[in-house]
Amino acid sequence: MSQDPYELAKQSAAKLAEITKIAKHDVLVVLGSGWTPAVEALGTPNAEITVTDLPGFSAPAVAGHAGKIRSVKVGNSQTLIQMGRTHYYEGRGTAAVVHAVRTAVASGVKTIILTNACGGLQLKWKPGTPVLIKDHINLTGATPLVGPRFLDVSEVYSKRLRKIAQEIDPSLDEGVYVQFHGPQYETPAEVQMAIKLGGDLVGMSTALEAIAAREAQAEVLGISMVTNPGAGLTDDHLNHEEVLAAGLAAASRMGDLLKKVIEKL
Ligand code: HPA
Repeated sequence: MSQDPYELAKQSAAKLAEITKIAKHDVLVVLGSGWTPAVEALGTPNAEITVTDLPGFSAPAVAGHAGKIRSVKVGNSQTLIQMGRTHYYEGRGTAAVVHAVRTAVASGVKTIILTNACGGLQLKWKPGTPVLIKDHINLTGATPLVGPRFLDVSEVYSKRLRKIAQEIDPSLDEGVYVQFHGPQYETPAEVQMAIKLGGDLVGMSTALEAIAAREAQAEVLGISMVTNPGAGLTDDHLNHEEVLAAGLAAASRMGDLLKKVIEKL
């Protein structure tokens, strides 16, 4: 296995092509916590593999993250669907976090849809509400870019793709996603800080992957599913089971949205 993350992604892409017998992919969808049930709406897979069959991937650490990748034809797009991701809080470093994105790009992917479950900072967003990510604030202090790889991040989340999603579902709001390190949820004071910084959504993923996707010149669509109000905004306490349950309840709507977006690419 190569030590260079970009080489490792190429090796992983070659293995993916060998196992799936599909030489090139067009779209990557990363399904976050609670989004896995949406996979059925995307259609019958041509192939399904376990992530650990590919070099550089590790087994998922989180309940609700299946650790599988499917290849499914959606509309005209051969689509990779990654069920479960590596989170930064697992301590494997940023290269591991973005390895799926780099593997997908090395497989030909030009469009990346990143989904996640998050806390909502606007109380009008009830559990199960999808919100388009219009920008992010990366509070991890980390980046997948090493060395002088200066990257323009003035439009990480494609306006064009957000427009397509809003044409399909005009009720979709947009918000700024704040990535925290995790795995602890935010304190109420951290939630207040995120609001003051201009955040609308708080979570533990996505921003680092989006940076790597932009470095690789892929177009990015980010969709958060609000599973709970941010800590301290209501009297409720947070737990991972509730996050998964909110995802389950909204899964078919999410799957339908993803399918229609990919069909319109
Ligand atoms: N904070 C961070 N991550 C999350 C949350 C939250 O409130 N809900 C689901 N994932």
